Amino acid sequence: MFLIKGGVVVNHDGRKELDVRINDGLISEIGHDLEAKEGEEVINAAGKFILPGAIDVHVHMRDLGASHKEDYKTGTTAAIHGGVTTVFEMPNSNPPTIDQESLELKLKAVDERAICDMKVYVGATPDNLDILPELTKHPRVAGIKAYLGSSTGNLLFDNKDLWDRLLSENKDTLVAVHAECECMINQNTEKFKDIHDPEIHSVIRGNDVAEAATRKIIEVGFKHNARLHIAHMSTKEELFAVKEYKEKGYTNLSCEVCPHHLFFTTNDYDKLSTYLRVNPPVRSKEDRNALWEDGIALGVVDIYATDHAPHTVEEKEQDYWKAPSGMPAVQEAGVLLMSKVHEGELSLEKFVELRSFKPAEIYRLEDRGYIKEGLRADIAIWDIEKPFKITKDWLKSKCGWSNYEGFDCFGEVQHVFVEGEKVL
Ligand code: DOR
Ligand code: ZN
Repeated sequence: MFLIKGGVVVNHDGRKELDVRINDGLISEIGHDLEAKEGEEVINAAGKFILPGAIDVHVHMRDLGASHKEDYKTGTTAAIHGGVTTVFEMPNSNPPTIDQESLELKLKAVDERAICDMKVYVGATPDNLDILPELTKHPRVAGIKAYLGSSTGNLLFDNKDLWDRLLSENKDTLVAVHAECECMINQNTEKFKDIHDPEIHSVIRGNDVAEAATRKIIEVGFKHNARLHIAHMSTKEELFAVKEYKEKGYTNLSCEVCPHHLFFTTNDYDKLSTYLRVNPPVRSKEDRNALWEDGIALGVVDIYATDHAPHTVEEKEQDYWKAPSGMPAVQEAGVLLMSKVHEGELSLEKFVELRSFKPAEIYRLEDRGYIKEGLRADIAIWDIEKPFKITKDWLKSKCGWSNYEGFDCFGEVQHVFVEGEKVL
């Protein structure tokens, strides 16, 4: 049992100075001047902000056949150090999560090692459409992931005739898509195969490659009013497509942005080389600014997720064509965004909306995303005034590196509770 005293509780719709009592895994009481009960540990939160734990709807925690990059323990340890209390793991693991057997195998390993709550996606394949409706009934399945274009792993769902089937037969399940056009990627790969400068990545997978797939899948989703979620949106064109369909009344459409598209541009290849290689790639300054201004500030973007995708230094140090795509971020993402709050570019309420409230609402997790009596005690206590440098020492991911090393930020996560347990 814990009593958090003297802090300011922040939800997406406002803030108030309130004490918070945690009992039996839940937020049991919220009020003014609560008295500590016998056996209760009191946490002094004066001058601090009490936020609902973040829900990162897009992580690759590796483990099983890729545990040299990350495992569920190291990945979720990184998560809690960033104020994240729930993660949704992608299905492009080894083995891929595409049937009952691979799902059970993953969940068993999660139970053994994860230290925050972890739900999982199942991947759509041309061969598992018959079993998806049954598979997604599992309470720990967050949704379906469909790779419309290929990325790390071998999950590919690029047959457009099947997109209609997927979205019409799974209307009540959230379908998250990696929207890049496979045929355009293949054409460009052939065209630029002799170029080894990592910057070519942003040409091979250009804005048009993302826009083509995004527009097409949104059209299909709109037809069925399917629960469609555009993962890692990186371009102004996708943003305008999502905006257009939301304005047309497509309320089941949602989208996310990730830190690498908000904090890096193609100018950063000079310094970061293949470490910056990611799918979809980093874009121009114009795209980055559109994500902040038209995306986040104007409310088109629903969720800030990370696409945490660790690979080892040895893997990333290879030639462009061999280096895998992806970078870690589950730990760094919170403090990066909190720095924008500190700079006055984002309200603390908006931070909570993008990280906790909206993910819970869109993925229909009714027991979290808000600091309220009766909900799960998933809580992060932040000191938002504290200068904070991202250093290698602080990082918990097994991959041991970050493109954000050396970034001067503001905000420190000081305590984290997962279902009422103090894990940090
Ligand atoms: O860059 C990426 N890395 N994009 C993805 O879609 C997958 C991820 C990974 O698993 O490495
Ligand atoms: Zn991903």
